[in-house]
Amino acid sequence: MAYSKYLETLVKEGLENSKGISTLYSKGVINILKNAKEPRDKLMEYVKGRKIIDIGCGMKNSAEEYALFLINELGASSYCGVDPFMDKEDISKHAESKIKYVKKDALAYLLEQPDESAVITANGVLNEEIISHKEYMEKLKEEIYRITPKNGIFFGAHIDNPKSFEKYGFKHILGSNSLPINILKK
Ligand SMILES: C[S@@+](CC[C@H](N)C(=O)[O-])C[C@H]1O[C@@H](n2cnc3c(N)ncnc32)[C@H](O)[C@@H]1O
Repeated sequence: MAYSKYLETLVKEGLENSKGISTLYSKGVINILKNAKEPRDKLMEYVKGRKIIDIGCGMKNSAEEYALFLINELGASSYCGVDPFMDKEDISKHAESKIKYVKKDALAYLLEQPDESAVITANGVLNEEIISHKEYMEKLKEEIYRITPKNGIFFGAHIDNPKSFEKYGFKHILGSNSLPINILKK
C-alpha cells in the first residue's frame, strides 16, 4: 500500500482506537520508576543528556508530567511529544522551551529525523489495539532502530512483543510482567 494511503487509514484507525482512552501509561511508568531504583538508574544512564522523542505521547496533561520526569529526574536534554490527535492548543505553548509537541503521525515524524539522533520512547502505542497495520509497525521499528544512537536504547510500556525488535538489532535488556517497562538496547 502506498505510504500516504497507510497514513490515511492509520490516522482514522488510530483515532477510532484511541477515542476515550485517557493518557495513563506514561503516568504508570513514572510511578513504577519512582519506586524502582535499578531500572530508573539504568534508564538514566542512557537518557541523560539526550533528546527524547515520545511517539503517541497523548494529551498534554500526562505527556507534560512524563516530559518533566524525563528532563528533571532522568536528565534528558529535551523532549518532543508526537501525536496526530493532539489538540492545537497543546502544541503552540512550548515553542521556546525544552519541551515541544508535534501534531503528526509517528512514522511521518520519524522519517524526517537524522540517524542516531534521539532516544525514542512509546507508552501504550506499539500494540495491536492502537496500530494494527503490520507493515506500518515494521517500518516504525526500522525507523526507531535507525534513529536510536549506537549503544542507545528504545523504551516503553505496553509493547505487544518486545522480542520482535530483535530482528532489527535490538536486544531486550529489561522488563517483565511485573515490571512492564521494556528497555531495548541497540
Ligand atoms: C493509549 S494512548 C497512550 C498515550 C500516552 N503515551 C500514555 O502513555 O498514556 C495511545 C496514543 O497513541 C496515539 N496514536 C494513535 N495512532 C498514532 C500514530 N499513528 N502515531 C502516533 N501516535 C498515535 C493516540 O492518539 C493516543 O494518544
